Amino acid sequence: MKNPKHVNRLLARYGGDILKSESYLKNKGFVQHGNVSVYRHCINVAQMSLRIGRRLPVAVSEREMVRGALLHDYFLYDWHGKKVGLNEILHFYKMHGFTHPKEAAKNAERDFRITPLEREIILKHMWPLTILDMPTCREAWIVTAADKYVSFLETIHVLKGDL
Ligand SMILES: [Fe+2]
Ligand SMILES: [Fe+2]
Repeated sequence: MKNPKHVNRLLARYGGDILKSESYLKNKGFVQHGNVSVYRHCINVAQMSLRIGRRLPVAVSEREMVRGALLHDYFLYDWHGKKVGLNEILHFYKMHGFTHPKEAAKNAERDFRITPLEREIILKHMWPLTILDMPTCREAWIVTAADKYVSFLETIHVLKGDL
């Protein structure tokens, strides 16, 4: 799984319909953090989830894990608003952080055929912020962990941005 081409082939195999769809491509225009788009962030999380999943001594549903990861932040709006700095951070913790998993799941159900497990991955990925929505399957745990690790790597510019 060190080969990035192999990882990308798996992403295309499991989530090609999502990645190519017009609505999903809108994520290229939304900022996740710094100079990373939501589109790039979700691909990073899907790649990291695959890497983690393949290292574990248990079976995971890779297809559903990748699709859930690609759609975990499919909320389709700019969560930063016009404010920057402290206000932006406060806004994130007050509103967006809690509400966007539900928004993303609603959009994903509208635009794609998603399984109950994929829905679970999307809804639970912000745990422990959304304290009552704790993951209950290993695919959701993996994406939750991958999201946090990838966000950290993006924030300190280890993973390069696309904006
Ligand atoms: Fe998120
Ligand atoms: Fe995320």
